Order: sequence, then structure tokens, then C-alpha cells
Amino acid sequence: MTSRNLVGIAGICATLWLAGCGDDTTGMTDPHLEIQAATVETAALAAEVRQLAAGSGINSLQRPAPVRRELSLLGQALAFDKVLSGNRDISCMTCHLPKLGTTDARSVAVGQGATGLGTGRVHPQGKFVHRNAPPLFNLHAMPLLTWDGRVFRDGKGVVRTPGAPLLASQRAVLEFGTLSALGMFPVLSRSEMRGDAGNELAAIPDSLHQRTWKFLMRRLGLIPEYRTMFESAYPGQSFDNMNFAHAGNAMGGWIAAVFAFSNSPWDRFLAGNDDALTEVQLRGAKAFLGTAKCAQCHSGPSFSDGKFHNVAVAQVGPGFGNGSDGRDDFGRMRQTGNPAHRYAFRTPPLRNVELTAPYGHDGAIVDLRSWVDHYSQSATKLRAYDPTQLEPLLQGTLLPTAEDILLTRDSRLRTLVLQPQTVDEITEFLKSLTDPAARDLRTVVPVRVPSGLPIDDLP
Ligand code: HEC
Ligand code: HEC
Repeated sequence: MTSRNLVGIAGICATLWLAGCGDDTTGMTDPHLEIQAATVETAALAAEVRQLAAGSGINSLQRPAPVRRELSLLGQALAFDKVLSGNRDISCMTCHLPKLGTTDARSVAVGQGATGLGTGRVHPQGKFVHRNAPPLFNLHAMPLLTWDGRVFRDGKGVVRTPGAPLLASQRAVLEFGTLSALGMFPVLSRSEMRGDAGNELAAIPDSLHQRTWKFLMRRLGLIPEYRTMFESAYPGQSFDNMNFAHAGNAMGGWIAAVFAFSNSPWDRFLAGNDDALTEVQLRGAKAFLGTAKCAQCHSGPSFSDGKFHNVAVAQVGPGFGNGSDGRDDFGRMRQTGNPAHRYAFRTPPLRNVELTAPYGHDGAIVDLRSWVDHYSQSATKLRAYDPTQLEPLLQGTLLPTAEDILLTRDSRLRTLVLQPQTVDEITEFLKSLTDPAARDLRTVVPVRVPSGLPIDDLP
């Protein structure tokens, strides 16, 4: 007998729909019948959850298209190689550490110029980058990237990157759409990778992004191993005719290939296995998909509607240049200019979310249960936000903007109140979205990279 059946029995006895249970005065019950009834109840709950999930389009996740081995190997090398950063001191994977669920366990990331990794990473001037580093899981299924969606496909399916437009010749290289384009951007950012001084990339004016990409290709071309790797990844093409989109595309392909995870308990449940979720997780799923309204935004196989909403998250960290002193982050309004989109951020996908704390665009909430609980009376929660949950250097960065944020809060949250037990159950349900294979990503780290620079990896 599983513990789920035991829990179920109590519920059934309470509803008295089975003879010989709660109203039994003789004390003679039939344990066999009770177990059967519990199973029936669980099966009914499971059926209901499946139906609700289908209604929200939360079906099983498609695997990514196969990625050719040579391209993936090139992408892996580039993603771990600090040669892509101005001062050769940081790689993509410094912020998206495999051992930390492809993030860095920080509220907001710590970029170039710093030393150490994860919670031990320190910048000499205490600098942070603008936002929380999101995980790299299942991004083949997320057409719209970054917290404010500035890497996206337009109505005609063309990849758009408004901050730094691509040439048609670069777009032609992108086999994995927005994911191929994304990797071209961290190298442009001074705080993330390029640096403010001390190297030929930092000396380039911000407006000349094509020149930065050209100089990076020049750097890579000085390493014979990279020339060979690029030419094997793109058969029939000469390195000298390639551009940085070829590098971005390789990293995008590698990310799509190695970080796709769709064998969670939830997936096994969707495939028909009622025992894959615990009774508590099933109740959490029912709330998530129904009364708690979560699935009204966290819909589809990735648990994201690919839209933008303001869910009343406090603003902490250095911000993104908005507001009177530049310390605010207007979110989606940065892209659309529409004041109604102020403080709206992309609904993040939720698979493996258990592994990727802190949460939200600025990591303002540091653990999963607190994030779920935040949705209950979120106005009160925002007004009473406690910055002492943050690391010391960020505690003083909380902006006093709660009332502004509440002006554009999503109307679905206005009356939402969740009982503590429901918060517990939803949190348990979210843990059923973890693919056990995502807990150990050691094998994605290469032993060396072509530049010979050291690889950032946690012990
Ligand atoms: C300094 C830390 C840092 C480095 C280095 C870094 N990233 Fe990120 N990454 C971030 C942050 C922060 C964001 C969110 C950006 C935003 O929303 O404005 C992000 C976003 C992303 C996303 C989008 C994820 C999503 O769900 O939308 C991908 C993919 C990604 N990074 C891949 C890379 C690659 C590839 C590189 C190297 C070329 C890289 N990152 C380097 C911190 C970093
Ligand atoms: C109105 C749309 C909406 C609803 C309803 C909603 N969410 Fe969210 N969710 C979002 C957005 C948008 C964010 C990111 C907010 C930010 O960064 O400022 C988010 C973030 C999250 C995160 C953090 C993920 C990460 O990677 O940082 C979790 C976990 C989460 N939501 C779970 C839930 C649960 C559980 C519910 C139901 C109780 C729910 N959401 C209801 C839109 C929504």
C-alpha cells in the first residue's frame, strides 16, 4: 500500500460514500474495500488533472530536432571558452553553470571582472548585471527569449533582435531560430562579457555591434583548432567567409541538444502512469490548473504562454537603466513603449524550476515555496517584501516602487488567495516537473577548450 492510498482513505471516509467506513459503529471495517476506494478516488483525480492539463495545452514536450555532432561540439567549446569575453575572464557557462541547473544561484548575475563561481562569485566593485540568469532548459520550445522578449520571431517568422539588428546573411545561418541568435548578444554586453576597457572589443563603440562580432571572429580565427571545428560544423564553407552568427548558431544548437529534458514524473503521468505523481502532487496539479489560475499564464508544454505579465515582483539589483536614477527595469515596456506593459515580464517556463532558484527577472524571491506563496494576496506581499532574504550587497537596492508596480499588475491576481496547504501542494507539484537527469549535468562540461583558457566549473 502506498502512502498515497493511506491519505486517500481519510478523504473517502470523510465523505461517507463507501459503506463500512466513517459511519461504522461496530468498528469492523474492510481494509480491502478502503484501498480499492482510495484507488478509485485517486484515479478520478488523475483523470481530472489530465483533462485540465489538456485544456491548457500542457501536453508532452516535443524533442528538439537532431543537431549534427560537429556543430554541437563547436557550440559546446564556444559556450565554455572565455576567449569570447573581452578580457578572457568569463564564458557563457560561468553564469549558466551545469552544476547549478544552468544558472548561477544568484538573484542577479555577476559578470566580467569578477572571480569565483556561483554563490562564491565576487566582483571587486560589487557590480551585478541587470537581471537574473535564466536556465537553459528546453529552450528549443521557447520561441521568445530573455525576460522582456527582445529576441523573438516577427509575424512572418523572421528572427528579430531590435537592440542590434542582424544582417540577412546572418539570419540565413540561424538553424535554431531565436536560440541561435541569442548567443550573439552576451558578447556585446559590457557588464556580461565585453568589459569596459583593456581589450580590443571593449574599445569598440556600443553602436558598432557588427564590428565587435567581426573582431571576435578574428580572435577565433587565430586559433587553428577553431578554424577546423567551424569548417567541420559547416561542411563546404570556409572559415574566412563565416560570421559570428555561425558561432551563435553552434551554441544554440548545442543548448537545444543537451538541455532538452522531458522525462519528469509529470511527463510519465501525462504518458498514462497514474503512479508517477504523489497524491499531494496531484492535488497541487489540480489547483495549479484550476482555482489557483497558474495555468492561465503557465500554459503549453513548457508551462509558458510566451506572453508578458506583471505579477507584482519587487525590483532589486542594479536595474536596466529605467526610472529617474536608472535603477528600475520596465520589463516589456522597454520593447513596446506601452505604459500598460511596464513591469511585465515573460512568463518563464517551469520545467526543472526546482533546480533554478532564486526566481523572477531579478531573483527577488529566493525559494520556490515563497514564490508560490507570493501569488496569494500579492499586493500585500509586494508591499511587505523583505529584502533580508537577499545576499547582503543587494539588500539596499530595493526600489520603493510597490504602488507603481501594482498599477499594472495582472488582473488575475487581484483576488487570488491561496491556503497554506494549497501553496504546499502546488510547490510539491512543481517538483514533479524535474527530470532526474537534469540534476547531474557533469557530462556536458568539456575537458578543455581550443583557446587553452581554464574552464569554469564547480567541483
Ligand atoms: C554575466 C552572466 C551571463 C553570461 C556570461 C551569459 N549569460 Fe546568458 N543570460 C544571462 C542573463 C542575466 C540573461 C537574461 C537576460 C535578459 O533577460 O535581459 C541571460 C539569458 C540567456 C538566454 C535566454 C534564456 C531565456 O529563457 O530566454 C540564453 C539562451 C543564454 N543566456 C545563453 C547564453 C550564452 C550562449 C552565453 C554566451 C555567449 C551567455 N548566455 C552568457 C546571464 C549571462
Ligand atoms: C498573470 C500570469 C501568471 C500567473 C496567473 C501565474 N504566473 Fe507564475 N510567472 C508569471 C510571470 C510573468 C513570471 C515572471 C515574473 C517576473 O520575473 O517579474 C512568473 C514566474 C513564476 C515562477 C518563477 C520561475 C523562474 O524561473 O524564475 C514560478 C515558480 C511561477 N511563476 C509559478 C506560478 C504558480 C505556481 C502560479 C499559480 C499560483 C503562477 N505562477 C501564476 C506569470 C504568471
